[in-house]
Amino acid sequence: MRSHYCGELNESHLGQEVELCGWVNRRRDHGGVIFIDLRDREGIMQVVFDPDEPVSFAIAESVRSEYVLRLRGKVRTRPEGTINENMPTGKVEMLGLELEILNKSETPPFQIDEHGEVNEETRLRYRYIDLRRPEMLERMKMRSETTKFLRRFLEDNGFLDIETPFLTKATPEGARDYLVPSRVHNNSFYALPQSPQLFKQLLMVAGLDRYYQIARCFRDEDLRADRQPEFTQLDIETSFMNEGQIIDIIEDMTRQLFDSVLDVKLPEAFPRMTYAESMLRFGSDRPDLRIPLELVDIADLMANVDFKVFSGPAIDPKGRVVALRMPNGSSLSRKQIDEYTKYVGIYGAKGLAYIKVNDRAAGPEGLQSPILKFLPDEVVDLVLERTGAETGDLIFFGADKEGVVNEAMGALRVKLGHDGGLAEGDWKPVWVVDFPMFEWDEGAKRWNALHHPFTAPSCSLDELKNDPGSALSRAYDLVLNGTEVGGGSIRIHTSEIQSEVFTLLGIGEEEAQEKFGFLLDALKFGCPPHGGLAFGLDRLVMLMSGASSIRDVMAFPKTQTAACPLTNAPAEVSDAQMRELGIKLRKPTAVSHD
Ligand code: AMO
Ligand code: AMP
Repeated sequence: MRSHYCGELNESHLGQEVELCGWVNRRRDHGGVIFIDLRDREGIMQVVFDPDEPVSFAIAESVRSEYVLRLRGKVRTRPEGTINENMPTGKVEMLGLELEILNKSETPPFQIDEHGEVNEETRLRYRYIDLRRPEMLERMKMRSETTKFLRRFLEDNGFLDIETPFLTKATPEGARDYLVPSRVHNNSFYALPQSPQLFKQLLMVAGLDRYYQIARCFRDEDLRADRQPEFTQLDIETSFMNEGQIIDIIEDMTRQLFDSVLDVKLPEAFPRMTYAESMLRFGSDRPDLRIPLELVDIADLMANVDFKVFSGPAIDPKGRVVALRMPNGSSLSRKQIDEYTKYVGIYGAKGLAYIKVNDRAAGPEGLQSPILKFLPDEVVDLVLERTGAETGDLIFFGADKEGVVNEAMGALRVKLGHDGGLAEGDWKPVWVVDFPMFEWDEGAKRWNALHHPFTAPSCSLDELKNDPGSALSRAYDLVLNGTEVGGGSIRIHTSEIQSEVFTLLGIGEEEAQEKFGFLLDALKFGCPPHGGLAFGLDRLVMLMSGASSIRDVMAFPKTQTAACPLTNAPAEVSDAQMRELGIKLRKPTAVSHD
């Protein structure tokens, strides 16, 4: 039907007769001449109809925005003064000779170029129109280019693309499962995979050696801008490689990807940082290294002060007291400080004490703060010294349980950095390593796996049993600009250690057999040492494309309440279907999903 894409045409096609198919981006009547901007996947072409072609001209008069047309015409230069240097096709236009309306369109619910004013619910409801917007189209193309590159890299490096099941058993990655009832086996359910973790390990037992898959994962968890209920991983597993070798190959892949798709040169070697250091300096295990602010521990200075807000957490072994210096922060207004106080409140902080350093040389006189009256001058001076405070700076303080301080002050650090325009450099990748094996769940009074239960410890089995809280794992996360884009580990490859880890996690022998018996069996039949990782593909493309939400790099994402406004999923099903599945609802009345 067509000879070229709209966006392809340029001066090299002058004088040629071409055929185009596409959508009417805009139609303008200019006193006797009609201009149609025809749009397709590759761009926009200006087409001119004049009354010399009366039949086509009459049809051209009737077309409206988003009609689908087939056009035949001749490429010519645009007249002097009408050249558009901002458009790839801006030096040429097409003189329309023939026009066929392939389909009409109702007036679209929003203009293709009106992104800013349209709410996301409407965009998702009419996603097929939203995706016509060049910005969205570019993101879809970048995603496709990214997966194309990754596939080629992995194939060139001997990885095999192997699919694993969707209808399966629970694969624990820390979220709730999506369940699918079985019709044939009444009272039984499949779980959709939270990741292909167990299957890729079984592929290593099978001897496939290097596996990859661009795999859909399903997790029923609280949604955020960088989380979706179904999302895509670039999932990788290898045998006979240690973490250093895996990290090297993944780094190489990431560097080449950024070079190929974005023309960005990432550092030759990504820095590596231990979990402990990351928590200490940034209050987070996914530090945004573009931001040059750091948390400074001051519990030792506060242990004996009268101010209980600080001395309490300072002497509590589970507490933490930190200072965070904001360069030039003394110009922050009362209102801005109140807003930051509210912001840390989201993370559970009960307040946000601060000291403004108006004149460092003037001693206590040069400081301004509601908490000075509670603190001895020499303590304040030591804090200023330790934080490197200078005239014009502001010091924020966080004092609470360690977890609250890390979350609140870690998030404040990032916010202050962005608000103050302090971010340095465009791309700051970092490997976070030496994670603890377990974290203590105070509510449930038991250990949880920090990564997943199949991650190998870096200590001996005895050390693991004697002091699970101090054991480190052989896990590694790739963090880019404060987002965890990938994570993986060397796995446990013997059933003894795997059983012991299940025991430590409070999974009894019977439960372990029932849930993971197939894995424990497989580990007994010649399982090679193995490890791997998974990239969050959506997150990676979100960062690469500069989108602020992963929804903007997915063709058909769900809303924050895991619903699809386009199809209205999830939806009720008929009584007959339920009966067939042997399911009776507890609340059979209609449930609203909006
Ligand atoms: P993990 O759970 O860390 O590891 O997931 C790997 C990566 O997937 C991305 N990710 C998500 N992206 C969008 N929405 C979500 N809900 C979501 N959850 C996770 C993150 C994360 O880094 N089986 C292990 C990997 C391994 O050990 O090989 C796993 O799934 O970018
Ligand atoms: P208060 O004595 O509660 O009025 O608090 C005095 C100052 O300390 C105020 O600026 C509070 O915002 C701040 N503050 C209170 N609790 C904390 C906390 N847990 N961490 C840091 N600052 C706090």
